[in-house]
Amino acid sequence: MIALRLSEIARITGGEVFDPVSALDGGSARDARVDPLVDGPVVTDSREAAQGSLYIARVGENLDGHQFAGAARSRGAVAALSTRPVAELASVVVPDVQAAFVALAHGLVERNPQAVVIGITGSSGKTGTKDLLWSVLQSHGETVANVGSLNSEVGVPLTICRITATTEYLVLEMGARGAGHIDYLTRIARPQIGVVLNVGSAHVGEFGSREAIGKAKSELVQALPATGFAVLNTDDPIVWGMASQTRAHVIGVGRSADAAVRALNVRLDQQGRPSFDLVTGAASAPVSLSLHGEHYVGNALAVAAVALTVGMSLTQVATALGEARPLSRWRMEVQERADGVMIVNDAYNANPDSMRAALEALAAMGHDRRTWAVLGEMLELGAESVTEHDNMGRLAMRLGISRVVAVGQGARPVHDGASDQASSGSSGSSEDQSTWVPDTDAAYQLLRKQLAPGDIVLVKSSRDAGLRWLGDRLLADTGSEVPS
Ligand SMILES: Nc1ncnc2c1ncn2[C@@H]1O[C@H](COP(=O)(O)OP(=O)(O)OP(=O)(O)O)[C@@H](O)[C@H]1O
Ligand SMILES: [Mg+2]
Repeated sequence: MIALRLSEIARITGGEVFDPVSALDGGSARDARVDPLVDGPVVTDSREAAQGSLYIARVGENLDGHQFAGAARSRGAVAALSTRPVAELASVVVPDVQAAFVALAHGLVERNPQAVVIGITGSSGKTGTKDLLWSVLQSHGETVANVGSLNSEVGVPLTICRITATTEYLVLEMGARGAGHIDYLTRIARPQIGVVLNVGSAHVGEFGSREAIGKAKSELVQALPATGFAVLNTDDPIVWGMASQTRAHVIGVGRSADAAVRALNVRLDQQGRPSFDLVTGAASAPVSLSLHGEHYVGNALAVAAVALTVGMSLTQVATALGEARPLSRWRMEVQERADGVMIVNDAYNANPDSMRAALEALAAMGHDRRTWAVLGEMLELGAESVTEHDNMGRLAMRLGISRVVAVGQGARPVHDGASDQASSGSSGSSEDQSTWVPDTDAAYQLLRKQLAPGDIVLVKSSRDAGLRWLGDRLLADTGSEVPS
């Protein structure tokens, strides 16, 4: 956070300073009080307040943030941004907290004009790519990126407010649940570089169609200036089609010959970790990722394009990509138990694209080991839901996954598809290969009985389905360490 006096925050946000102490004594103490210096983190959750914090009092559906001003103060917050005065803290009172919060973030990023702002969007892999980009860029210069998946109208300004006077790169994951959302985010901090990873069917239930999703994602490249760079996946026709919708320089990334930054000779090791030659123009450098799944190749190419654009050399980029480790939990998190059972916990979230990618990674990791796909429901798929789940069951069988365990009512079509595909195949009976269980407890009991040393278990579902805890529970079974 770039330190600001409360009076400056009032000026930036157009709000009015209200000081509960001076109000109590009729204003006579006002001059005696120091205009508080906000130099701690800007927070919307009072539990995250620290010394010097500004507490943003948002009013949500269920809770009124103004009630937690005291809790924020007890953790060190020195001021609030609110729609009405609070008794516990000096505050800047504004008519619209969200608008003021955004104005503050905008004001802060303007105070560090040399910071390169990079926006990342796409249907799958934003957080994983953001983590990878943070790892690579911070080897080159001070980098601020969102924590976890904070990619909304709250998460983006929160991240921007973490900028310092010496930040060189500001990496912002941008999520969209509808038209105009990304445009809104890009107005808070104008990106110079925009990355669009893919356009899939995540949230298609809300958007209506894949085209509508593509349109929403294209708002990122439309916001770029002519001096900016649009990093676009050449392997995704909707994304590559965005090349004509931007004034910025276009950098294609992917496997195709159209791509300026390419991956050649992609191969996976026994743990599903990709190696490839990173190629740009006539130059090439070998890369070995520590991340699991072939889908990380595309993400790594996008990261490489950004890193090359800001001036890193090809060798620096290749080295930094290889050194990057997984940062956010439950994304292709691969851990082996003492008894040799390997758990692949990819249950942070799921949509058909990321589930397909995870199943392919599992199949690649399988070789001569028995593979289990423990799959929960993919949410928000609208009318396509049953078909998409059915397709996943079929795909698992086609990929040669040994056992499918579909968990919960919404995942029942996964079992139906898998059973149908298995019975039309030659190997084994469909009952052996696919099972449906009503909940994660039942899945746990089944797996506890049946897992044998050497098995590999993928656990994957939308975040609301709770399978990530099943993965952690299976891992803890033999006392293996779960990273915090
Ligand atoms: N390029 C990709 N294509 C398909 N799936 C991917 C890709 N990159 C990552 N994934 C998978 O997608 C899932 C979600 O990853 P991640 O959390 O990075 O995505 P996200 O776009 O940030 O999601 P959210 O919209 O929830 O923020 C993980 O299972 C991850 O392994
Ligand atoms: Mg995310």
